[in-house]
Amino acid sequence: MSLRSFLKYTAVGRITMIPFRLGVLALPYALRQAGAMVRWAFASKEYYNHTYHLTDLNLGYLASYVSVISGHDRRAVEGYIRELSGNQALRRALEERTLASPDRHNCDVEPRYGRRLGWYALIRATRPRVVVETGVDRGLGTAVIAAALHRNAAEGAPGIVYATDIVPECGHLLAEPYKSHCRILLGDSVESLKQFKEPVDVFLHDSDHRPEYEWSEFLAIEPRLHPGSLVLSDNSQQSPKLLEFAEKTGRAFLYFQDAPRDHWWPGDGIGAAFAPGTRALYQNPPPKA
Ligand SMILES: C[S@@+](CC[C@H](N)C(=O)[O-])C[C@H]1O[C@@H](n2cnc3c(N)ncnc32)[C@H](O)[C@@H]1O
Repeated sequence: MSLRSFLKYTAVGRITMIPFRLGVLALPYALRQAGAMVRWAFASKEYYNHTYHLTDLNLGYLASYVSVISGHDRRAVEGYIRELSGNQALRRALEERTLASPDRHNCDVEPRYGRRLGWYALIRATRPRVVVETGVDRGLGTAVIAAALHRNAAEGAPGIVYATDIVPECGHLLAEPYKSHCRILLGDSVESLKQFKEPVDVFLHDSDHRPEYEWSEFLAIEPRLHPGSLVLSDNSQQSPKLLEFAEKTGRAFLYFQDAPRDHWWPGDGIGAAFAPGTRALYQNPPPKA
């Protein structure tokens, strides 16, 4: 019997392979992770709601994902992603707001949008009139959504993002000209959603991430959804609630997983419940002159 066959096909061979499998195949992964953790501990100031850039491969997959759930051309979606990445005015505004805030000691100055690039591209492609985001925190996601609405408005398709949070100090990153596309609803999210009266084109859950709370938000906003509304969740990496809501409301469900670049955090993702095979466009662009 050859050594290869002995190692592959015998019980003693299996035991002999354990040190090799552990030391050569598995442990280097743990060491790379440990290295990234040590770098992060000194280079970053964040301790929750981690921000990171996505790998180039992951960015390409994000564009394809947004294209499938919105029904818009992938090249156009890639253009929107580039548009946000290259928006220096927004970047400077976010950096200035961070430096001026007491949170400057616990959050990083450089804005790293991660999956929020996908949120931006979706809003740009579909031109919603009303977006609802639950969970503002510092306001990075709200600012990104508002920046998309700002561009939409300049192209003749104005919209507004209603963003809920229970913490009165939330949203310190929001600055003009983006802030005027945004209204903060302070208080418990489910209560705010129950009182909400307008039809909602895009809904995004990103507040209290307990699955039962996520579900309560979906039920609270359901009467305000129309058949083409897009429902997103920032919790689908750990909760099946949006998949269940998609089944309940006759929508399709897809999940995108972030692949962070140079970070130990495994990444969050975007869950989407959507009407399959349709091109979501909530407002027609104005006729060309
Ligand atoms: C993960 S953060 C939101 C992150 C933000 N969307 C972003 O893009 O960076 C969650 C936020 O939800 C808020 N929150 C938690 N429980 C809530 C509740 N019951 N009602 C409203 N907001 C709540 C927290 O105060 C926190 O600011």
